[in-house]
Amino acid sequence: MPRPRVLSGVQPTGALHLGNWLGAIRNWVDLQNTHDTYVCVVDLHAITVPHDPAKLAEHSLGTAALYLACGMDPERCAIFIQSQVAAHSELCWLLNCVTPLNWLERMIQFKEKAVKQGDNVSVGLLDYPVLMAADILLYDADLVPVGEDQKQHLELARDIAQQRINARFGSEDHPVLKVPQPMILKEGARVMSLTDGRSKMSKSDPNEGSRITLLDPPELITKKIKRAKTDPERGLEFGNPERPETDNLLSLYAILSGKGREQAAAECADMGWGQFKPLLAEATVAALEPIQARYHLLMEDRKELEQVLKHGRNKAESVANATLSRVRDALGFATPG
Ligand code: TYM
Repeated sequence: MPRPRVLSGVQPTGALHLGNWLGAIRNWVDLQNTHDTYVCVVDLHAITVPHDPAKLAEHSLGTAALYLACGMDPERCAIFIQSQVAAHSELCWLLNCVTPLNWLERMIQFKEKAVKQGDNVSVGLLDYPVLMAADILLYDADLVPVGEDQKQHLELARDIAQQRINARFGSEDHPVLKVPQPMILKEGARVMSLTDGRSKMSKSDPNEGSRITLLDPPELITKKIKRAKTDPERGLEFGNPERPETDNLLSLYAILSGKGREQAAAECADMGWGQFKPLLAEATVAALEPIQARYHLLMEDRKELEQVLKHGRNKAESVANATLSRVRDALGFATPG
């Protein structure tokens, strides 16, 4: 029996933060033991908003290094850069031609990002979820481990595969594409901003104090946590809708300290903020320290990183090209001689 397949990715837009790690990458690290795992650095997605060409390649390599530093193992998974596997762009075009425009116009993330871009909204930003569908569908992925904010994009990928490709160009016995399932963790799937417990931690928040990046040095982590928004009440608890910041900080503590929710809730039930914040800072620094050490080693030896990416690309290409041929055939294109 072949192992079920997993595909996921993160955009190389600036330093990854706790949300990316706890909501997505942490899950990949476990899945690579039981699943045939493919993870890419989605650099084509990163140019859907204005970007700096002088930094794109460096950020892509840095993101791949962080995958490794967080525990992805090139022996057990393929790590590659999306733009280096041309099938992603090509399948995106084929899917574009069968995806209704109004499916894209109602995507929440498009609406949110489009507001921020004003008059400068690119076609690529609207098309972002179709490229994401291509990423997933190319690998016949069974599971797509992501944070909660990607749920709607996953549903779109399923609808494109099922309704727009399989129903039109395949048959029940011979579907053209596999319909993937999202995999969203119960804990960490929605890490919130440190400055507003009602909005998610995000790379695009102009306030750097709102997020902890995986590469923040200890003093900065401590400072950001010290300044994190709280409320006047004493004692920490989960699930009080009036106290979203408390829920978020306690959730972070439960995961990062490794203590789990029950133990963290019991330990912090009567704590004041002055006692809790240093504890959270300590747990965060300790959790990130080994990741940072591995990251810096990897970035010093680019050769190893480049080898990993080359190996990953070769493995990804063979799967992606086979799926692309299947879709080309189903859509009736002439077979290359
Ligand atoms: P990106 O780079 O915005 O996010 C990468 C992953 O991190 C998760 N995430 C979070 N999880 C919990 N709390 C948060 N505050 C938080 N912020 C981000 C995201 O859900 C995501 O899993 N569109 C994708 C990238 C992508 C992709 C794909 C993912 C492109 N193609 C194919 C899976 C499969 C994204 O959100 O990137």
